[in-house]
Amino acid sequence: MKTIENDILKVLISEEELTKRVKEIADQIAQDYEDKDPLFVGVLRGSFMFFADLMRYCPIHSGLDFMAVSSYNNGTSSSGVVKINYDIRADLTGRNIILVEDILDSGNTLYNVSRHLMDRGAASVKLCVLLDKPARREKPIHPEYTGFTVPDEFVVGYGLDYADRYRNLPYIGILKPEIYE
Ligand code: PRP
Repeated sequence: MKTIENDILKVLISEEELTKRVKEIADQIAQDYEDKDPLFVGVLRGSFMFFADLMRYCPIHSGLDFMAVSSYNNGTSSSGVVKINYDIRADLTGRNIILVEDILDSGNTLYNVSRHLMDRGAASVKLCVLLDKPARREKPIHPEYTGFTVPDEFVVGYGLDYADRYRNLPYIGILKPEIYE
């Protein structure tokens, strides 16, 4: 059968490693937010799988919501400004927010979204990212919770896409170069 696995050069982070690390992060958040009724906010679409696993392993009282954003691009490079396509409807005044992302790359998305949430009256915004790719950082972002630091390679799976594909891969893999060259 022809599957998405045929396009993967190698497994970077296995399902078992993902599960173990996501549970560790969920445990840490549960301890830190036990009495704070946090609002988990997932940035669509890449965060959906990490977000679902994180929440199922974090048994404290909490809420959840999602945002959708896109970057304004100047030709091939990001301008660093993000457009909010879908915002949270609930009142955020005084809420403790945990902003959940699949990958921290340039930092432009989390920088802008976290500022926006603070402007809307949140008491705090803490960042939870599955993957950190520090090689490409443009903004000074330091997440409170990080799953794995990854090299500057084309990673896909567990929510991360190439051309909107491979999000359903159950692990993080590196794409074969011939797929994107
Ligand atoms: C990815 C990822 C983050 C953003 C990180 O989203 O999900 O939102 O890029 O990059 P940055 O740190 O350079 O801002 P993408 O725009 O690919 O959309 P998607 O979530 O729909 O895949």
